[in-house]
Amino acid sequence: MRAIAIEQFGGPETLKPVDLPTPEPGPGEVRIRIAASGINPVDWKIREGYLTKALPHRFPLIPGWECAGTIDALGMGTSRFERGEAVYVYARKPEVQGGTYAEYVVVPESFVAAKPKSLLLHEAASVPLAALTAYQALFRRPGVGPGATVLVHAASGGVGMFGVQLAKNAGAKVIGTAGPDNQDFIRSLGVDHAIDYRAGDVRAAVRAIAPEGVDVVFDCVGGETLALSYELAARGGRLVGVVDTPNQDEAKARGIDAYYHFVEPNGEELATIGALLDAGKIRTHVSAIFSLADAALAQEKSREGRTRGKAVIVL
Ligand SMILES: NC(=O)c1ccc[n+]([C@@H]2O[C@H](COP(=O)([O-])OP(=O)(O)OC[C@H]3O[C@@H](n4cnc5c(N)ncnc54)[C@H](OP(=O)(O)O)[C@@H]3O)[C@@H](O)[C@H]2O)c1
Repeated sequence: MRAIAIEQFGGPETLKPVDLPTPEPGPGEVRIRIAASGINPVDWKIREGYLTKALPHRFPLIPGWECAGTIDALGMGTSRFERGEAVYVYARKPEVQGGTYAEYVVVPESFVAAKPKSLLLHEAASVPLAALTAYQALFRRPGVGPGATVLVHAASGGVGMFGVQLAKNAGAKVIGTAGPDNQDFIRSLGVDHAIDYRAGDVRAAVRAIAPEGVDVVFDCVGGETLALSYELAARGGRLVGVVDTPNQDEAKARGIDAYYHFVEPNGEELATIGALLDAGKIRTHVSAIFSLADAALAQEKSREGRTRGKAVIVL
C-alpha cells in the first residue's frame, strides 16, 4: 500500500513516500480503507521524537492518528461492522507505528464508529482526535453543564472548536480565547465572550466576565497560558490541560482540581459525538486539504500553530 513514513526522527524531510505491505487485521481488529486522514499537532511532535518517553515507537513509522474511510476487512471475532461500511476512528495504538497517512490502517473495532451521515468523508476525518479530546476533558469529571462557566483557551483550534460547541450544547456559558483573525470564527461556534489573547491582559478580561473565576478552564495551549489559568478557575473549580501537566502545588494553593488528560480511543464516545454532528448540535470546520504527497507541508503548517479548525489529508 501507499503510505508516508519516517525511518528516523527529525524534520519534515524525514517524511517519505513508501510502499509497505497492507496490514492484516488480527482478532478483534478491522482494516479500514482510508479516504482521508486528519492532521494534528501530535503528528509533527511524533516525527520530532517528543513522544518517545510516553509511548514505544517502531520504524518504519507511519504517522497519523485519525481517519475516515470504509471497512475493508474483518478480523476474527469482530461483529460491529460490515465490509463497505463508512466509518471514522481515533486510531492511537499502544505502539506508535501503523498510522493513518496510508491507504489502509488496522485498528481494534472498539475504537471505530459509523461515519456521521451528514458529513463527507474528509469532514469526518477531521473529527475523532480533537472531538474526543474535548469530550473526555470536559465530561469525564463533573462541572460542565447548565449554570457553569467554561473558559476554552485556543477556542479556534481543532480541540478548542469542539470544546466550545460541546460545552455550549451541555448548557454552559463559554468564554473562548483566540487571536484577532479568529474572533468572528469563535463567535460563530457559539462563545458567549470572545477574548483576543494578543490584545491585552487575558486574566483581566476573564475576571471582568467571571469575577469569582470560572467553573472549568480547558487549556489547549500550555506554557504561559497554563500558568495564568490557575487563578482563573474558581475555588472548587477545575483546570484540565491537554498540552502541559498542571502543577499540583499551584492547584492545591488555589483549591482547584487540576490535571492533564491524554485522549483515549473510544468508539462509543465517538458514536455519541457523531449523533451530535448529525443532529446539527455541533459541527466541524476543515480549513485546509492536502494530498498524501504534501504530508510534510501539512505538518509544517500545523507546527506554525495557526490552524483554524482542522486540516486533513485526502487520499
Ligand atoms: N493531551 C491530548 O490528548 C491532546 C489531544 C489533542 C491535542 N493536544 C494538544 O493540544 C494542543 C491544541 O491542539 P489543536 O489540535 O487544537 O491545535 P491547533 O488546531 O493547531 O491550534 C491552533 C489554534 O490555536 C490558537 N492559538 C495559538 N496560540 C494561542 C494562545 N496563546 N491563546 C489562544 N489561542 C491560541 C490559534 O489561534 P490564532 O491563530 O488566532 O492565534 C489556532 O487557531 C496541541 O499542543 C496538541 O498537541 C493534546
